[in-house]
Amino acid sequence: VSAEALQFDAGALGGTIRPAGDKSISHRAVMLAALASGTTRIAHPNRGADVLATRDAMEALGARIEDDGEVIVVRGATLRSPDRTVDARNSGTTTRLLAGICAGHGIAATFDGDASLRARPMERVARPLRAMGATVETVGGKLPMTVRGIRRPAGGAFALELPSAQIKSAILLAHLEATGPLRITGDRCSRDHTERMLRRFGRDVRFDGETIELLPGRLVARDVDVPADLSAAAFFIVAACITPGSDLLLADVGVNPTRTGFLDAMRAMGADLVLVNEREVDGEPVADLRVRARALEAATIGDALVVRAIDEIPILAVAAAHARGTTRIRGAADLRAKESDRLAAVAQVLAACNVAVTEYPDGLDVVGGTARAPGAPLPTFDDHRMAMLIAALAAPTGPHVLEDARPIAVSFPDFTDCWTRAQAAARQR
Ligand code: S3P
Repeated sequence: VSAEALQFDAGALGGTIRPAGDKSISHRAVMLAALASGTTRIAHPNRGADVLATRDAMEALGARIEDDGEVIVVRGATLRSPDRTVDARNSGTTTRLLAGICAGHGIAATFDGDASLRARPMERVARPLRAMGATVETVGGKLPMTVRGIRRPAGGAFALELPSAQIKSAILLAHLEATGPLRITGDRCSRDHTERMLRRFGRDVRFDGETIELLPGRLVARDVDVPADLSAAAFFIVAACITPGSDLLLADVGVNPTRTGFLDAMRAMGADLVLVNEREVDGEPVADLRVRARALEAATIGDALVVRAIDEIPILAVAAAHARGTTRIRGAADLRAKESDRLAAVAQVLAACNVAVTEYPDGLDVVGGTARAPGAPLPTFDDHRMAMLIAALAAPTGPHVLEDARPIAVSFPDFTDCWTRAQAAARQR
């Protein structure tokens, strides 16, 4: 077993945890703050490597960022072309959203990243940015990607070729200085954090889950308190559901309806999930989530729900492995283009834990009820979500050893601490 390996033990979860700050919202807060006039204070930011990649990239573009370890302070600036290649590391959101900013602000930049990011499709963002007048070159559709932006684009109409929040956001960010209105059609309730934050920063933007309209205007700095990330909470939620004796409270979790497909799926499987103290914080719905263990039933998870649970499909498959019956997941082909091929990765990990799983081009069938500890360390696929998933898998049947725990720092650097605390709290009850 190598130095990077990590063992997760069996054990219920209890106490109160505030998961890492929302990664999607943190990226957007840093980007919009740098483009706005005035000073933005960002509280509870995500402190993973992905958002750090965005911060470094924005500084390379001329943004002024200070960080006292609690709050990040961003002062709006006129951005310029960076003098070196932007290293987006593992982060698709950094690459695609920043490509949009460059395209519409007259900035020339080349983007590159790690092996995982270099394997991911970039033509999906290059095409609409070319259509608005920017020059975008990819290498066979992949990184490195060079963007040469234009100033003051005209606005106009765009149809999304897939319901991707990253592509939608890139088009929006490319039109912040447009001289006319922008209209985007073809969304299917992908996450709307960009739209909400644009509104908070003073922009006239209308959105209904299908069509987005942005009118010309300017961005004015506003403070942002970032909710905890539901995608990070999901590992705790599933572990608590499937591990007898668990009773866990997750504090300040973002429950934006474009993100809660996962909660809907868990409820359909019979999970004991209660939202308390529902409120709105800086334009985003937030709640505390109480989760108690309860026997789950299989469910069918399809298209519409998948868009609203795109990053939680792998952890839903772990819930399915502990549910009675066969869970069918379909309409999730885009999972093969994430930090790893998440359909193949989940199938491999579950099979190693004695779960009967069938892989389809766009989904999985998972037969519940036979999971047990694997005979060998489980691979991480260089993917933070696949790594954290192992902790949840181990909670009812551990110990499970993860081959390489380092990818966890991409989105949730103190995940292991939080996990250990939740298991200790359950033992003390
Ligand atoms: C994200 C959008 C999703 C998601 C990713 C974060 C975002 O990707 O999978 O983790 O912050 O906009 P797609 O837009 O490609 O579906």
